[in-house]
Formats: sequence, structure tokens, C-alpha cells
Amino acid sequence: MAVRVENKVFYLETKNSLYQMKADEHGVLRHLWYGPKTEQDMDYLLDYPDVGFAGNIYEADTCRTYSLNTLPLEYGTAGVGDYRVPAVAIVHENGSNALDLRCKAYRITEGKYSIPGLPAVYAEEQEADTLEIVLKDTATEIYVILQYGILEEYDIITRSVIIENRGEQAVTLQRVHSLCLDFPYGDWEWIHFHGRHAMERQFERLEVFHGIQESGSVRGMSSHQQNPAILLCEKGCTETSGFCIGAALMYSGGFQAQIEKDQLNQTRVVMGIHPDTFSWKLEGKDCFYAPEVILSCSNEGMGALSRQFHRIIREHVCRGKYKLEERPVLINNREAAYFDFDDKKLLNIAKEAARLGVDMMVMDDGWFGKRDDDCSGLGDWYVNEKKLKGGLVKLVEQVNDLGMKFGIWFEPEMISEDSDLYRAHPDWAIQIPGRKPMRGRSRLLLDMTRKEVRDYLYQAISAVLDSANVEYVKWDMNRSISDWYSAELTPDRQGEMPHRYVLGLYELLERLTRDYPNVLFEGGSGGGGRFDAGMLYYCPQIWCSDNTDAYERTRIQYGTSFFYPVSAVGSHVSAVPNHQTGRVTPFGTRAVTAMAGSFGYELDLNTLSEEEKKEVTAQIKRFKKYGPLIHNGAYYRLSNPMEDKFAVWEFVSPDQSQVLVHGMIFWTEANMLRYPVRLQGLAAGKRYRLEDTEQEYTGAALMEAGILLPRSRGDYAPVELVFTEVSN
Ligand code: GLA
Repeated sequence: MAVRVENKVFYLETKNSLYQMKADEHGVLRHLWYGPKTEQDMDYLLDYPDVGFAGNIYEADTCRTYSLNTLPLEYGTAGVGDYRVPAVAIVHENGSNALDLRCKAYRITEGKYSIPGLPAVYAEEQEADTLEIVLKDTATEIYVILQYGILEEYDIITRSVIIENRGEQAVTLQRVHSLCLDFPYGDWEWIHFHGRHAMERQFERLEVFHGIQESGSVRGMSSHQQNPAILLCEKGCTETSGFCIGAALMYSGGFQAQIEKDQLNQTRVVMGIHPDTFSWKLEGKDCFYAPEVILSCSNEGMGALSRQFHRIIREHVCRGKYKLEERPVLINNREAAYFDFDDKKLLNIAKEAARLGVDMMVMDDGWFGKRDDDCSGLGDWYVNEKKLKGGLVKLVEQVNDLGMKFGIWFEPEMISEDSDLYRAHPDWAIQIPGRKPMRGRSRLLLDMTRKEVRDYLYQAISAVLDSANVEYVKWDMNRSISDWYSAELTPDRQGEMPHRYVLGLYELLERLTRDYPNVLFEGGSGGGGRFDAGMLYYCPQIWCSDNTDAYERTRIQYGTSFFYPVSAVGSHVSAVPNHQTGRVTPFGTRAVTAMAGSFGYELDLNTLSEEEKKEVTAQIKRFKKYGPLIHNGAYYRLSNPMEDKFAVWEFVSPDQSQVLVHGMIFWTEANMLRYPVRLQGLAAGKRYRLEDTEQEYTGAALMEAGILLPRSRGDYAPVELVFTEVSN
């Protein structure tokens, strides 16, 4: 068992980490430690200062050194003298909001808990243990159950929370965070991933200052602007050394992560559903389940931490047939045709793609209802036969006859006002009576909290999937949510809608992915606006960004790589000048950048020269050869493209016999100096040969001294180096 309890101290141990807390003499659950293993009760670290204006719990009597405001707590609450950011805030039936939690019981079980209606890390019984600690409010029948999943071999601890109202009267939940983590000491920095549409997950590292700093989203989705995953690292922590902690919320709605450094230089991190777009009326005898946070730490830098997240997400979050299987190399018609296509044009693209070795044709936006631009048709998920003469079946058959699979685009959560669906069910769109709703990209949203809406979508989507041999679905979502209101909810429950929307989305995704196990689902939201561990539970890959510029992709994919595995990253080679930036990058560079992901093309291959077409075939062959290494291997960031003049990353096979170094040198210079780069993760004692040369190196040399990147001519030159173990 990875959990033991000694003298009321809980030890949660993974291969390299210890998580520790203690139920003290007052039953308060204190946080003691999260970090490397110490084989020690860490209570000795706590100081008990008499701090002015830090009040004391009643039972402490005249003792002025016991204060909820100064002690590290496992789950901070509002209203009883802990003035740091609370993890939970409740309004009781009498209008008061105090919650004073004391430990009542605990349970340790084999296996990993799951969460009704929400995605969660899953594991076999022997791979995980669950600890549940039951806390109770001193004055009411509110119980808080803290859940911990320990995946020892993965160095992962998950956390979630259940709020149980065992009383008779309803209470209102104002905030239920899934994570609360206190550090009594430490000089911390935090890393978050901000951005905008077509520029997601930009890495930013900041010093933790006194007061509250936060990242979050109130857009009803995890968002382009912030990602629901943060790192906390000790000053000086690098890719390869130092202590850091990562927390990723498995949730696709609005979120909040707050970090507070307090008056005693203690640091608290909380993370969960964003309280500004959340409230929940919890009836008597009812429960509320908070989403899960995946937590991991590393004493060997951020690279190791990322690889822990890659492994858990790939093996214990993603599901279904394609979870570990190689994904088809696809061609998507979006940048080739936008809305201007018919069956002939698609077939023309498919024919050339098939000839050059592409596995699957994906028909993007524009195939359904009346849809020639962004303003109409969403919701009418039946084929536009003016565009696809002969219907979907014929087109799919023709594509299949070319030896290719067929995939299709949906944006299920949306509705156009100019659509048959809207004309039939205007009340299904999210809008507040008496107000004009905000339009986003000319569309409104469907009320996903309503069962009849989800049933309609299930039927509409499954009718398409049943009608033809469709083997891939791109599940898009192209606007932020506003005008929260549901006709189904009473006024005192309208605050529940943002969370109920996410629950509705998950329910529909669960039904469809369960009933169509052979279909590959790719998520997306204007590119990477909903790139989170929650969506990855349903879709093993997500379109990473609408920005297909290889240069900017290196930065977007760099930020993405801190938590999410390469196999989750949807990335394609597109045309130049690039449609988003006008930048021209070499073909080979676009290919290596797209290979750090699911790999595919997003252009009309007919427009390429014969020379480039040959390159396409070679690129696909190369991806087929190295795809297993890229997706199953360990991923190393060898540079920081936000600062360095190049972006270089590396894949190492599990047995350390194969190494692939990919990347690009951003700019050329006269009298160019070559950049040295140290490889990582090799076996020091092994010898490696560089592909197409006779040159051999020891693993130690490659890691300690490194290699010189090739001298490049021209901007954005690709880097592609393959090292293979030389057998004796
Ligand atoms: C989003 C997606 C794109 C494309 C368009 C279609 O922006 O990210 O890839 O599918 O929608 O409208």
C-alpha cells in the first residue's frame, strides 16, 4: 500500500515523493509536506509564532500560538480565521458562511476512485490506492471528503473533493476548489501558460510575490487565454535540476488557480472551478463532486516532471482504441478550401493525398446544412447535397476506394440563428430572456444542460456516423460562453449552469465515445482553446492551435509540452506563405514541427511541385518509421524557444537505443556560429551512431558535451538528427 497512517500522520508515498498530512490534537487536518521522500514525520518543521491579528480557535483556550491563519492546512475554509485564499466557501441556511472542518474518519482502499459524471485518472486495482479523509464542520452536518489517488509507480497523486450535505436544509456552495496545497517555506516561482486565439500556451515564469496571483478562465471553457495547469518551482529550478511541482485540472470549463504568499512567507496554491462563474445549491442529503487535480513533483527539474505528466495522461487519462495506437496521418481540407468545396474538389485533394501516402481524409467545416460562411447552418448536421452530390456515403466510398479512411468535422455545441434547428427550437440556444445574446463568430451556443438538446445531438451525430464509414470526428467549439441562463433552472440555480454545461458536454462525449469505440475523436476549440486533461479523457488528441506557422508552433508546442504528451498534440504541415502569419518556412521545417504531434497535412497537395510531392511521401515514411518513438518515447526539451535562437527537442526510445533530435534554427546570420546543445536521457555507457555518417559518440559525450547543431543557411532551417545505438 502506498498509504500508511502512523500517529495520525498520513504518509502517501510514490516512487520518489512523499505527501504528508496530520490530524492534530484538535482534529484539524494540517498539511505537512509534499516533496522528495524523507522517511520522517515532518511536523518538526512547523513553528508556532504568536502573530498579532492571527486569531485562535476556541478550544486553544489561552494559547495564542495555535492559529488557523498561520498553520499549513490541508483544506483551507472561509469564515473561521484563516484569512488566506480558501479552498471552500459555503453559505449555510442561516446565511452564515463559516466552515470549521475537523477530521472524523478515513478509509484506505485498493484501486483508484472515480468521480460520477466527471473525467478522472483511471487505474487497475494493483496500480493505485485511494485514501479518503472525512472532515466534518463543527456546527453543521456539512461533510467534506478529501480524496487522494496514489499511483506509486507514476509519481502521481490525484486529488478531488466531495461536499456532502447530511443535513435537511439546502446550502449554497460558492467555491469548491479541488486542490489546496500549503508550503510553510520556500522561495517559489510559478509558471503558467497564457495566450490568445492562434497563440496558445505561451510559457511565462514569474516570481511568487506577497499577495495573490492567479490564472483562470471565466469563459465557460478552459480557454486560449490561460491553461488549467501550473508549475510551482524553487528558484533556480531548470529543465534538468531542482524541485518543482505540477498541477493540472481535469476540467474543460472555467477554472481558477491562485497562489498566495502570506505574511509569514508561506505559500498556498488552490485550484478548481472558477468561483466567479459558479454557485451550487446543495440540497439536504445530497453530494457535490469537484473535478480532479493531477499532481506530481520532481526533484530533477521540469523535464522529468513533464515526462511524469505525459505518462499519466497517455496511459491513465486518454482512453479507447487510439490511446496508444499510432494515429492515421491525415489531410484536412480547411486551409485548402475553407467553405468553398464540393465532392469533386475534396476527391481531388484526397486522390493526390492517397497517392503520396496519406492515411485519412478529413472534411472540415462546411459540409452540412446551409453553410457557405460562418453565419449559418450550425445545428443542421445533415449533408448539404448541393455540395456533396451523391451524399456522404458516395464520397466516403470513393475515399475508401482510394485506400483512405474518412473523417468529419462537427461543432455540436453551437447553433446558428440561420438554421433549421434554430427555427424549430429557438429556446435551445443560450440566451437570457429580455436581452440580446452576445454572438461569437456569428453563432450562439446550445444549452448543453438540457437532456433533449443532448439527445438531439446524439441522434444527429450518430445518424451521420451510422450512415457511412466515418472513422474520425473533429469535435470543435468556436466561441467563448456568455449569457449564462437556462430555462430549465430555477432562479436560485442559474449559477450552476456553467458547471452543468460541462457535465452535459461530458455526458454526451461519454455516450458517443462509448458507442463508437472505433472512431478517433479529436478535440478542438478554435485550435487549442479547450486543451485540457478533461477533454483528453474523451479525445486522445486535440487540435493544438489554428496557428499552423511552424515557427510560432514551436513556441505553442513548447508550452503545451509541459503537461500534455506529444501524442495529444494535433499538428499539421500547411502551405506557405502561412495563412495566419504570412511567414515562409522551409517544407522540411514544417514537417519536423508537425511530427511533434499527431502529424498530418492541411493544404491541397495538388498545388505542390513534383519535388515537394516527393518530399511529402518521404516525410510520411519518416513519420511512420519514427512515429512509435515519437509517441511512446520520452520527450526532452533541449532549448527554450522563448529565449534561445533555436527550438530543439528530443525523443528517446524506452530502451535508450534510438534518439531523434528535431527542431529549427530560427534565424540565419553571416559567419554563423554553430549552437551547442546537450542531449538528455541517453545511456552514458552506450555508443550511438549519427544517421548517414560513420561518426560515433558515447552517450556520456552527447549528454555532457553535446553536439553542434548543423550550420544553417536561410531562416527557420530544420534540425533532424537520428542517433542509433551501435551494438558491439
Ligand atoms: C476552428 C478549428 C479549425 C477549423 C475551423 C472551422 O477554428 O480550429 O481547424 O475547423 O474551426 O470553422
